[in-house]
Amino acid sequence: MINLITAPRGTYDIMPDRALVWQWMESTIRQVLLSYGYGEIRTPIFEHTELFQRGIGETTDIVEKEMYTFADQGKRSITLRPEGTAPVVRAYIEHKLYGVAPVTKLFYLGPMFRQERPQAGRFRQFHQFGVEMIGAESPVADAEVILLAHDLYHQLGLTDLEIHLNSVGCAQCRQAYKTALTSTLKAVADELCTTCRLRLDRNPLRLLDCKSPSCQAAVSKVPPIQDYLCPDCDHHFKGVLALLDQVKVKYKLSPKLVRGLDYYSRTVFEIINHDLGAQNALCGGGRYDGLVEACGGPAVPGVGFASGIERLLTTLEQKGKLPELSGAPQLFVLPLGEQLTAVAFELATSLRRQGFFVELGNGTKSLKAQLKSAHKSGAALTVIIGEDEWQAQQVTVKIMGDGSQKRIAAAELQKEIASLISPLGKKYQ
Ligand code: HAM
Repeated sequence: MINLITAPRGTYDIMPDRALVWQWMESTIRQVLLSYGYGEIRTPIFEHTELFQRGIGETTDIVEKEMYTFADQGKRSITLRPEGTAPVVRAYIEHKLYGVAPVTKLFYLGPMFRQERPQAGRFRQFHQFGVEMIGAESPVADAEVILLAHDLYHQLGLTDLEIHLNSVGCAQCRQAYKTALTSTLKAVADELCTTCRLRLDRNPLRLLDCKSPSCQAAVSKVPPIQDYLCPDCDHHFKGVLALLDQVKVKYKLSPKLVRGLDYYSRTVFEIINHDLGAQNALCGGGRYDGLVEACGGPAVPGVGFASGIERLLTTLEQKGKLPELSGAPQLFVLPLGEQLTAVAFELATSLRRQGFFVELGNGTKSLKAQLKSAHKSGAALTVIIGEDEWQAQQVTVKIMGDGSQKRIAAAELQKEIASLISPLGKKYQ
């Protein structure tokens, strides 16, 4: 027997019923983000590997072990995008958007790829939508971006999520903190897990989000990063908090929140749904003031976030906030006999061109069998074309809900249907 070929580990198919939910989700997200003044950008699925090495940071888990990287035929190193911020920044520089307006607001939506260990809420191909506000330095921009995530989730009916906030300072204050971390933790290095012992010299901030109890205990001996913020970073962070207080949005200060990407400076945040289990971050983001310059552009600040769409859908499902969606046809046209197939085909085509969602019955089957299929599909109406009726240029319209039916002139069909249901699609001219 031939081995079955299945979807690769950590990936999945979106089948037609589920695709309805995705279509609704994507169009809702697009509508909200457009209404907040963000323009959609679609960058390639793959980029030069160097973009992520430079952008995300050589010593991050993503770059060290999670990227899908390969050499193309020209022996260039190519990587499937693990996230959207570095590609957006690359496009921002390449298209010289800094010369167009002082602040650029972009959003994206699409698949990302990370070779992580799959588990509930964690996939190897997953989907994100994200926003990037590039060019704005003030704490107002940070607060606006956090509020956008908060308000978007609220509009979807998610009102009990937690915002976790921290500041990782600028390169200078972060360096002071790293030095303090390293010297305190080196003294207790044998209490750390093997991975953290390696991280100690290479990227000590990563130790803060290690889940091992002994590492957490060791880290708790180091004062919080807030104690190391320089006056400017401290002022900026307090500004963000004051703006959130002003609009009465609740948040939790999380001194250990550092995020898994190295481009962040100052504000970092995540929005959490505790009911999601281990992978409970619905979205994450923050400020990245050095990224545009690190990618070869001018020194322009930026702030943004990205949200996992799978986790958002699971959350909406858990809380009963997904709308009822139906892929059912609106009506079935049923020819009674093969000789009426062409007539039924013509009627179905003219109704489809009026924007109705129409299925065509199978004329070789009995009326009973065809009505059964129509019922199963969830269609609201059927149009039955029988031999005798058609001789008189008439058809029968049946309302499936109550079983009532009415014989009408075929010429009146479109008018009759339009008086019963509204077309779902556009008219074909
Ligand atoms: P991130 O925290 O790596 O940030 O990802 C953002 C969100 O994507 C996560 O909170 C989670 O919902 C979802 N996500 C990440 N990895 C997976 C996975 N393997 N399976 C399912 N969902 C996942 C970024 O990607 C940054 N680019 C966000 C950003 C934008 N920062 C500034 N601007």
